[in-house]
Amino acid sequence: MLQLPLAGAMLQRRLSRLLNLGRRLCSDASVPELQLHNAVTSVPEWARVPLEDLHGRRHDYVRISLTERCNLRCQYCMPAEGAPLSARDKLLTRDELTRTVRVLAAMGVRKLRLTGGEPTLRSDLHLIIEELNSIEGITSVSMTTNGLVLTRRLPTYARAGLAALNISLDSLQSERYEKMARRPGLKKVLAGIDLALQLGFPVKINVVLMKGFNDDEIMDFVEYTKDRPVEVRFIEFMPFSGNSWDDSKLVPYRTALRTILESHPELQGCTPRPNDTARVWQVPGHAGRVGFISSMTQHFCSTCNRLRITADGNLKVCLFGNAEVSLRDAIRSGADDEQLSTLVRAALRNKKPQHAGMQNLAHMENRPMVLIGG
Ligand code: GTP
Ligand code: 5AD
Ligand code: SF4
Repeated sequence: MLQLPLAGAMLQRRLSRLLNLGRRLCSDASVPELQLHNAVTSVPEWARVPLEDLHGRRHDYVRISLTERCNLRCQYCMPAEGAPLSARDKLLTRDELTRTVRVLAAMGVRKLRLTGGEPTLRSDLHLIIEELNSIEGITSVSMTTNGLVLTRRLPTYARAGLAALNISLDSLQSERYEKMARRPGLKKVLAGIDLALQLGFPVKINVVLMKGFNDDEIMDFVEYTKDRPVEVRFIEFMPFSGNSWDDSKLVPYRTALRTILESHPELQGCTPRPNDTARVWQVPGHAGRVGFISSMTQHFCSTCNRLRITADGNLKVCLFGNAEVSLRDAIRSGADDEQLSTLVRAALRNKKPQHAGMQNLAHMENRPMVLIGG
């Protein structure tokens, strides 16, 4: 690997990603994303026991919602009028977030994903990426975004050390996109994806399938992977507060898979990656891959390694669990790092082995998706 004295580790990482671009195909799907290791040099006593729950799952991945706001209004995510927002002073500050992540990293968290709302609405996003990247133990800071502003801002995020992008894109047709998102934007998102690929980012595309709405585009999305090294994931529509979920709108992953197999019987399954939400396949000869996120019809809770921090500072141990613990309140009442770690461990002890099943989830209390971040 070349040594670049001025550009430093961040640019080295981008270069090695570029060199590896052509190799991110089915055959080496088990190879984890290239990562810069901020080696952990000293671990305090309170952090030495791994973040394992009562079901033996080790948690090394935290999804961080950076804002409750969004510049789209996707139907599956929130009601047309939007979701009620927290007062500004209830949101975690950048310092509070960094401190929280430092504590979690000491306990073994390695991977971070920034979400929202829409994380790019944070004007200090590049600073957040940079700060989180510099925390000892953190190996990657990725982001899930609607992709609307990437053409303008991605180079800044790249310089800050962003590792990878998951981008929402539910239709390849302008009018339909606008209907789903209740705002226009398809062109900008497509251009954003192209730029991300040019810059060498690993890119996953999130397509929430809704019956009678976009399920006739499955093959168009498969075609989209022909020349682009992206992973398109078809996601089962999940119930959250205010998204009018019902099972008649759900497209089970087996149905989507069958549709693809009808045209591409040669489709090949890829080696599963540990803790992945998606089962991934590839049409031989295509540059990209297709995956299925089957949270509803075939959950993947047994390999769950995720924690969530909401923008208002709550720790959420399960996407579908309403039990939340306020790290913000603990921090603001003077908790030290060890006390914060105790709070995290106590919350993790309450993590259920799996979510409650789709019919039950539809009737359970939870936040709207926009306030969780996926
Ligand atoms: P990486 O594995 O880091 O690439 O992220 P991801 O695919 O989990 O994240 P992304 O934000 O792109 O989310 C894609 C879909 O997976 C969304 O519908 C999320 O709600 C869903 N998802 C993410 N994490 C979980 C999880 O822990 N449980 C369930 N049931 N769904 C999840
Ligand atoms: N069901 C499934 N996926 C959803 N997402 C948002 N809301 C839902 C839902 N109700 C996905 C979007 C976004 C990711 C964070 O979560 O695709 O990219
Ligand atoms: Fe983990 Fe909960 Fe998602 Fe299951 S539903 S994978 S336990 S976060």
